[in-house]
Amino acid sequence: MTGNNLKAPSLRLGVNIDHVATIRNARGGRHPDPVRAAHLAVAAGADGITAHLREDRRHISDEDIARLKSEITQPLNLEMAMTDEMLEIALKHIPNACCLVPERRREITTEGGLDAAGKGNRLPGFIGHLKDKGIRVSLFIDPNPHQIEASASVGADIVELHAGAYCEAILHGNRADIAREINRLAECASAAAAAGLEVHAGHGLTFDSVDAVAAMPEIVELNIGHFLIGEAIFGGLHSTIRRMRALMDNARAQATGSASA
Ligand code: PXP
Repeated sequence: MTGNNLKAPSLRLGVNIDHVATIRNARGGRHPDPVRAAHLAVAAGADGITAHLREDRRHISDEDIARLKSEITQPLNLEMAMTDEMLEIALKHIPNACCLVPERRREITTEGGLDAAGKGNRLPGFIGHLKDKGIRVSLFIDPNPHQIEASASVGADIVELHAGAYCEAILHGNRADIAREINRLAECASAAAAAGLEVHAGHGLTFDSVDAVAAMPEIVELNIGHFLIGEAIFGGLHSTIRRMRALMDNARAQATGSASA
């Protein structure tokens, strides 16, 4: 997200519209249009739009990125792999932020975080090209102290903490696993903030799992996609996003002792 002249709420919601494009592409053609979904998301209270341009173009297309950049007023967060092709596309469209993610062709979704510690040699140059154009750079990493240190040392502005293990624990309902994963996220959020990184989180968040993450004071942005688009089938996109926003805002307000939003 990260629009410099935007009024920043305490916790931003980035709506990931990839899976509107997944449904469109199941039949070809232009319906449903992810850019229309992005307009609706903004009207419902999204602070930004996130889209992942995959190398295999399985959902979002190059044209979607061009239209999102020219039509949407809120900041665009472009998720992408660390490839020369994606760098060229990012430098052409200049999104507000790029979130670098690992990408494996056969994976169903982004399975793990980027190995910032292992990619140390290539990352500073890649990040530098984006930052030179004023694009803020986020690294999608597992909640692991080594990855946080590495992200700070390669010049990232932001880390997005992979919330997938926590969300899986919620789905399975094992209290010990849930507590362990919440602690891991909370400790990494505070370590990342102490290292001077802006902290985001995402992947797998739902109405049932968002509260604990939204309550972490260092986290300034959540990126949520699959659940919102799926739930919109039942409740409509507007009210689904409004409800997620309300859950986030209430959890943050309770955690900080401020008046409920
Ligand atoms: N953040 C990142 C970096 C992602 O790769 C994804 C999935 O595309 C998300 C957030 C959103 O995850 P979900 O669709 O599970 O809400």
